[in-house]
Amino acid sequence: MRIVSGIQPTGNLHLGNYLGAIRNWVRMQDEVAAGGGQSLYFLADLHAISMPHVPADLAANTYEMTAALVACGIDPDKSVLFNQTQVPAHAELQWLLGGTARMGWLNRMTQWKDKAGKNREGQSVALFTYPVLQAADVLLYQATHVPVGEDQKQHLELARDIAQKFNNDFASEAAPVFTLPDPIIPPEAARIMSLRDGGSKMSKSDPSDMSRINLTDDADTLMNKVKKAKTDPEPLPGDKAGLEGRAEAANLVGIYAAMAGTTVEAVLGEFGGQGFGRFKPALGELLVESLAPINARFVELRTDRAALGQILAKGAAKARELAAPTLAKTYEALGLVR
Ligand code: TYM
Repeated sequence: MRIVSGIQPTGNLHLGNYLGAIRNWVRMQDEVAAGGGQSLYFLADLHAISMPHVPADLAANTYEMTAALVACGIDPDKSVLFNQTQVPAHAELQWLLGGTARMGWLNRMTQWKDKAGKNREGQSVALFTYPVLQAADVLLYQATHVPVGEDQKQHLELARDIAQKFNNDFASEAAPVFTLPDPIIPPEAARIMSLRDGGSKMSKSDPSDMSRINLTDDADTLMNKVKKAKTDPEPLPGDKAGLEGRAEAANLVGIYAAMAGTTVEAVLGEFGGQGFGRFKPALGELLVESLAPINARFVELRTDRAALGQILAKGAAKARELAAPTLAKTYEALGLVR
């Protein structure tokens, strides 16, 4: 097994990132190491320049996100932890795959459509070709599995399409250049929604900080956000069917279940019939208790830029080594002389 996944170092790590992806990264790093495989996790800093950004913030966030990932349990001795920028093969492979990816495929990406809105002409070229870089990120390492939240599923399907077309066009069936990666999406936390609006996902780009729980929030902030989370006046139902049409309630129950490592049914078994006045404090406490160790670790690590820089440099050296054979094969398959 070869696990590869990435996160953009923009803003804080939030509960959606954690439950949708990072918690699986941590779980998988041990499983994979036990089976003799390899896990690679990276900061998608090259992706972060596809939207308007402040350079000094990007640099600061790259260190902060590194600290946050280590605080969550990514162990730089077990996993290869790095930032894309220090491994130029990502950008190189993106260009090489640019001959294979089709405009029509990229035009269908929902993230592109959502982010560009009605102003496609005014968007950066990088926002449009973003999924090709993402394909390069995973194909470069022959990833077999990619742990992500639901919102990245379409990008991974595109990576598979690119890999398949490249293999068909430039390689023999017996010796394909790329492995087709499978997504790993946690069923119980595939899509954590905003605390202010059950119809939109929890996201770093939401202007309201009250919409998300950051892993760096202190206990008071966290309790306050849960207390103020949007809900409806009804008590919680006794079963899952009763959550239909109640997006905000469903989201909070889902968060509780994911955090406690149990099912939605079990949570409703305990809290069914009770109002949010009872449920919210219980959820808040569960979050504070579960996130406190991560928070403490993060505060300890975040200011030591030298140590964080060393982690990234060491990870990048290993990643460059792992990337080299596939990059060489790709150049060769395309007839490019090096
Ligand atoms: P990013 O930085 O937006 O998010 C990182 C991971 O968190 C997941 N996630 C969520 N899961 C559940 N509920 C939510 N509300 C939620 N919000 C975010 C995302 O699905 C993701 O797994 N393009 C990617 C980064 C990337 C990447 C890659 C991922 C670049 N190259 C290669 C995998 C493989 C992104 O912007 O994720």
